[in-house]
Amino acid sequence: MESPFKADVLRGKVALLTGGGSGIGFEMSTQFGKHGASVAIMGRRKSVLDSAVSTLQSLGIRAVGFEGDVRKQEDAKRVVESTIKHFGKLDILVNGAAGNFLVSSEDLSPNGFRTVMDIDSVGTFTMCHEALKYLKKGGSGRSSSSGGSIVNISATLHYTAAWYQVHVSAAKAAVDAITRNLALEWGTDYDIRVNGIAPGPIGDTAGMSKLVPDEINNKTREYMPLYKLGEKWDIAMAALYLASDAGKYVNGTTLIVDGGLWVSRPRH
Ligand code: HXC
Repeated sequence: MESPFKADVLRGKVALLTGGGSGIGFEMSTQFGKHGASVAIMGRRKSVLDSAVSTLQSLGIRAVGFEGDVRKQEDAKRVVESTIKHFGKLDILVNGAAGNFLVSSEDLSPNGFRTVMDIDSVGTFTMCHEALKYLKKGGSGRSSSSGGSIVNISATLHYTAAWYQVHVSAAKAAVDAITRNLALEWGTDYDIRVNGIAPGPIGDTAGMSKLVPDEINNKTREYMPLYKLGEKWDIAMAALYLASDAGKYVNGTTLIVDGGLWVSRPRH
């Protein structure tokens, strides 16, 4: 679908996206690039990064991939520094890397719980922490008039409760808290905007195929009137809004992009 945004809304910007080589993250990388940004993507799998970068480049996008695991502070630091070395500055950080699997709380080991907290919550904080000095106004290659922005990918499942997702619910609740607290501190001190996006069920993603078997998908459609699948594009457009000047007065919010699903109730 054609973008409603002008093709230059991110012209001259440099974006780093964790998890930017696949799924929703890759669509965000693509749309950021199509709207003028230079794009660095971070991920654990070299083959995924290589193919994502060559697809982006074939679209005329300035793109580079850096291998790394957001659970390792040294990787976070190295990838942020490599982005600066490659593109000269950093304007936008998108934390999209996430881990997930369905498991009952009874069967989930504390280490399994910790693993998802480490990727989603600690990983998000670590990336923000390592990127801070470059996102500040007047940071490397940046003007002194405004700071950069951060977009953290969250979820809606922790607004209520979700079966077999205690680890992810806890991790995404922490992500939302990180979003609000960094928005307060870094918005005040450095003019950096920190926001989040909470996607609903998005078609053609690892999240949907791993977490929502077809029979549940069909049942949910029956009793949740507002249940319809979103597209990766919908999340990328929300990210463009938040990361571009369109969202210049938006700070500390997590934008729910779920077609209304989480407020949906059956008719009596
Ligand atoms: C139970 C599991 C498990 C499973 C891992 N563990 N998979 N427990 N069921 N399916 C436990 C292990 O037993 C172990 O604990 C601990 O977690 C660490 O496992 P490892 O395999 O060593 O970890 P690692 O190789 O680092 O892999 C972590 C991973 C990750 C979380 C499984 O590889 C992953 O999920 N990658 C896929 C990324 C993905 O799908 N992204 C899209 C996310 S969609 P013990 O105790 O045995 O040592 C999304 C949507 C959220 O986030 C919103 C939904 C509505």
